[in-house]
Amino acid sequence: MHADESWWRHAVIYQIYPRSFADGNGDGMGDLLGVLERLDSLKELGVDAIWFSPFFKSPQKDAGYDVSDYNDIDPLFGTLADFDAVLAKAHSLRIRVIIDLVPNHSSDQHPLFQAALKAGKGSAERDMYHFREGKDGNTPPNNWPSVFGGNAWTQIDDGQWYLHIFDSSQPDFNWNNPKVIEFFHDVLRFWFDRGVDGFRVDVAHSLIKEEGLPDIEEISTSMTGSDSEPTEEKPHPFWGQDGVHEIIRGFRKVSDEYEDRAMVAEAWILPLKKMAKWVRPDEYHQTFNFAYLGTQWRCADLRRVVDESIYEFGQVGAPSTWVLSNHDVIRHVTRLAYDEIPKQGDGIGPNYPQPDEARGQRVGRAATAFMLALPGSSYLYQGEELGLPEHTTLEAKYRQDPTFFRTNGDRVGRDGCRVPIPWEADAPAYGFNKTGKSWLPQPENYRRYARSEQAGVAGSTLELYRRLLKVRKEFKLGLGSLKWVEELCDDSTLVFDNSGVRVVANFGSPIALPAGELLVTTQHDLTIEGVLEHDQVAWIRL
Ligand code: NOJ
Repeated sequence: MHADESWWRHAVIYQIYPRSFADGNGDGMGDLLGVLERLDSLKELGVDAIWFSPFFKSPQKDAGYDVSDYNDIDPLFGTLADFDAVLAKAHSLRIRVIIDLVPNHSSDQHPLFQAALKAGKGSAERDMYHFREGKDGNTPPNNWPSVFGGNAWTQIDDGQWYLHIFDSSQPDFNWNNPKVIEFFHDVLRFWFDRGVDGFRVDVAHSLIKEEGLPDIEEISTSMTGSDSEPTEEKPHPFWGQDGVHEIIRGFRKVSDEYEDRAMVAEAWILPLKKMAKWVRPDEYHQTFNFAYLGTQWRCADLRRVVDESIYEFGQVGAPSTWVLSNHDVIRHVTRLAYDEIPKQGDGIGPNYPQPDEARGQRVGRAATAFMLALPGSSYLYQGEELGLPEHTTLEAKYRQDPTFFRTNGDRVGRDGCRVPIPWEADAPAYGFNKTGKSWLPQPENYRRYARSEQAGVAGSTLELYRRLLKVRKEFKLGLGSLKWVEELCDDSTLVFDNSGVRVVANFGSPIALPAGELLVTTQHDLTIEGVLEHDQVAWIRL
């Protein structure tokens, strides 16, 4: 058992994507009132904390990741008083609340950017962002691509260009400017003072840009950057620059002014060895483990990434985190139904081969049961407790992700994982609200996945998640340690022990279950007593 039992070391943190969780006022867009009404269901599920994707004031060009006021709630989602009510209720249910911090860029409508535009070339206001002259008249200052497609520079009337790693409505802040640091420390304090338990830091790996903003040698447009992954020898001019550590230490000092708070970094493309440096004792508490998310349901690959994660994070005394789904990736029950999937962020549209739903459900449930037994902290994405699949046939006319527009529809983008989740099979919008409106249309198969169809039904995915979370808590698996049971592992079986629980994952033909009390299994109703079938996981009491 880990000596430090701080909550974030072992918590199961549930991501609420406010647009799509529950809609209290019936306008088709999820909101804080909706969250308030549905919070009890998360208590029943058994999560320890929730993380809110942005609900701040925003023109919503990138679904709220374009913030125009960091210290207020967008009227789409409610008011600060609504937030206070959600926070108070969550705390009364002993659920902690983490919110998003979006420090890499603001909205172009943010007063600081508007002031920069007005103040003109060479001003202190422009120095809050990255403004540059172009090369030979009309060429952008360098060759950097935007993650969402196209290039990362937009020219303004006086001829200067501003940098935006994402959409042109999201200008990048200049983190070499102490005023930017000060500004964000104040934002942290504003929300910590209000009582939030922590922050998830958006694109935490891009805050510092290489001096001189040099061209990139190998161009990649993906957020995972898999085709130009930075390494120690080959740094990238805007992903994972070393200068970011000073910024992180500053954040940590602020969070240490408060008791029991935690910060988790979102940083996509960095190798685990490098990531571990971000969670040294005076830096972030946690970082998302996207190496794990990117690993297929394959025996050897999973073992490798689990070992590497535990080892690398262990070297600096940090817990590993684990995650399978979020609002930027194809939902894992859909993703894992494929051998080859589109690059992260590209999404699946009607023209892509459609998934094998049964395979996805089977493998997705197994992947979750494997993940929740691992020591460290785990992140869940709303709807995954229902086994909710990606909407893979969303028509072009409904698309909202800037990726879709910046690539002329070549990359359909992330809307398919952001569709409002189903609560009651027979209610309007499947219970998302009372009016039946929905900012993205829900596919017909969401009816089958509605919570009402699963609650209390033995073998349902919802009941599986509940049981996994209950047993995980009872045995304190999050604080435990993992030991492979070598004599039972082979090319298609992984078996490990953690805190009195033996976890068996079968990737191949049916195997005999080791002896012991079956605590939980993905294979509801073992067809043959004592036999675990393929793509199934069982937890057994040792
Ligand atoms: C990562 C967020 O998760 C994603 O949704 C967003 O588009 C980018 N950062 C830009 O803020």
